[in-house]
Amino acid sequence: MSPATLFVTGGAGFIGSALVRLLIAESDWRIVNIDMLTYAGNLESLASLAGNPCHIFSQTDIRDRAALDRLFAEYQPVGVIHLAAESHVDRSIHGPADFIDTNIVGTYTLLEAARSYWSGLPSEDKSGFRFHQVSTDEVYGSLPAAGLFTEFAAYQPNSPYSASKAAADHLVRAWQHTYGLPTLVTNCSNNYGPYHFPEKLIPLMILNALAGKPLPIYGKGDNVRDWLYVDDHARALRLVFERGVPGETYNIGGHNEKTNLEVVDALCALLDELQPRADGHAYSEQKTFVADRPGHDRRYAIDAAKIERELGWTPRENFASGLRKTVAWYLANPAWIEHVVSGEYRHWMQRNYTERSAA
Ligand code: NAD
Ligand code: DAU
Repeated sequence: MSPATLFVTGGAGFIGSALVRLLIAESDWRIVNIDMLTYAGNLESLASLAGNPCHIFSQTDIRDRAALDRLFAEYQPVGVIHLAAESHVDRSIHGPADFIDTNIVGTYTLLEAARSYWSGLPSEDKSGFRFHQVSTDEVYGSLPAAGLFTEFAAYQPNSPYSASKAAADHLVRAWQHTYGLPTLVTNCSNNYGPYHFPEKLIPLMILNALAGKPLPIYGKGDNVRDWLYVDDHARALRLVFERGVPGETYNIGGHNEKTNLEVVDALCALLDELQPRADGHAYSEQKTFVADRPGHDRRYAIDAAKIERELGWTPRENFASGLRKTVAWYLANPAWIEHVVSGEYRHWMQRNYTERSAA
């Protein structure tokens, strides 16, 4: 019997690729990875899976209803874990259109394709089907110095990115409430780890530091984020998909609140230790305070008690262990970095991967 099939959207991105690597390594699912390969999609992050028949890649836009219908009909999945999105807050401030299109219209299109397929399933398959929306803590807005986001926190998104994710979450909720589609929503804090596109704080700082460039810190560097190692997020996603209760939301976070300045200082100290500057100076000398992000959310912090209590999930990495692993990965993978910086990664698929097969 062929293995059950699961759709993962956005599986060539940072978190999606970690999830796909985890599922292929540790589960029996056959994964159909649906990703249109925007600038953020990188098949080189899935190089370890080339040739694996359990990984089928489809370069498909989640806004393309006809293509989605064909995929559902062909592969008959038992569910969808939906990560495909425009994910970078600064880009959403400079150009919100793609965020509205992909995050809202794309999620709507995927929901409708999933609903149409799900409606035609026999009743036992229907009740087992899951549509899992992967969302962010940013939908809850910004916290003052104290308090945590629980699953009951009101949605108060402040950036075009978080507003588009909030809109998508509301669509998912409505599809569950109105049509009975068995949905799950997870809201996670800031991820970090290997294969992270170097527009986000942690990989940007590592690459700039090594290149001798300034380390741009927005405002005073006192905004707080709650950091989670990406593999811990991937394990949580698998657990929620397999054991979460339809209609429920689960917050995911690592209990690792840090100011941005603390993060940059920790990175500089690790680099001083693992790859000291040739001139003997400290990497922290490259820190540069720059204009703040417009509407910059002050603080995020997740209360992860529900997923711990109900599903038994806890993170394996703390911030010190995860950050050390991350810096070590970037130092050990100069080719991945070089291909991203040069743009070479955009052509990697043509040379190494055949669409819809793992050749
Ligand atoms: P990413 O930007 O690294 O990857 C996004 C992926 O989606 C890319 O591979 C891209 O090619 C693909 N994609 C974009 N538009 C598409 C479209 N129209 N059709 C098909 N594919 C498309 O993002 P990430 O950081 O891995 O985040 C993944 C998901 O997790 C997003 O939904 C994001 O909102 C959510 N999330 C991210 C974080 C974080 O810290 N990065 C935290 C919580 C939640
Ligand atoms: O909280 C979850 C969210 O985390 C996800 O939903 C988003 O997809 C993800 O991008 C991330 O959003 P942030 O805006 O928090 O991440 P970013 O890495 O862009 O920024 C982290 C913090 O660092 C933020 O306070 C802004 C600051 N920053 C960022 C960059 C890129 C700087 O000070 N300098 C920088 O150059």
